[in-house]
Amino acid sequence: MNYKLINLNIFGDNRGKLAVVEGNKDIPFEIKRVYWIFDTLPDQERGKHAHRDLEQIIVAMDGACQFVLDDGIKRETVWLNRPDTGLYIGKNMWREMRHFSYGCKLMILASRHYDEKEYIRDYDEFIKIINEK
Ligand code: TYD
Repeated sequence: MNYKLINLNIFGDNRGKLAVVEGNKDIPFEIKRVYWIFDTLPDQERGKHAHRDLEQIIVAMDGACQFVLDDGIKRETVWLNRPDTGLYIGKNMWREMRHFSYGCKLMILASRHYDEKEYIRDYDEFIKIINEK
């Protein structure tokens, strides 16, 4: 499975905590794009796609949600619910996000600029591509 949970570097003192991520140092890619998901609703699901050529780190800045991760053979679930933990998702992994806590905020660091052409949005096509590899 091409994903892992990463403990982020945290600096804490009596003022609070600070987390930091440096591209190619704390994570295995240069950061080309940052986006965030907010105003989430508990009954909505997102994702339902894979990327041919994109790596990401996802951090739940506030609240929680569940990720379903699928490499075409196995399907696993991971809860993301801490701002000190990053979920790394590599290439060719199907992901779904669900069970958002109300107003959950996700920040995503991505290895590439947005390119709809490298998305795989159909699960049957994803399985076909995996099996061709
Ligand atoms: P979508 O892929 O459906 O989001 P999620 O992964 O959370 O399910 O993206 C929602 C819309 O935003 C879609 O029209 C594509 C657009 N979008 C961009 O234009 N640039 C981006 O960097 C991203 C991530 C999405």
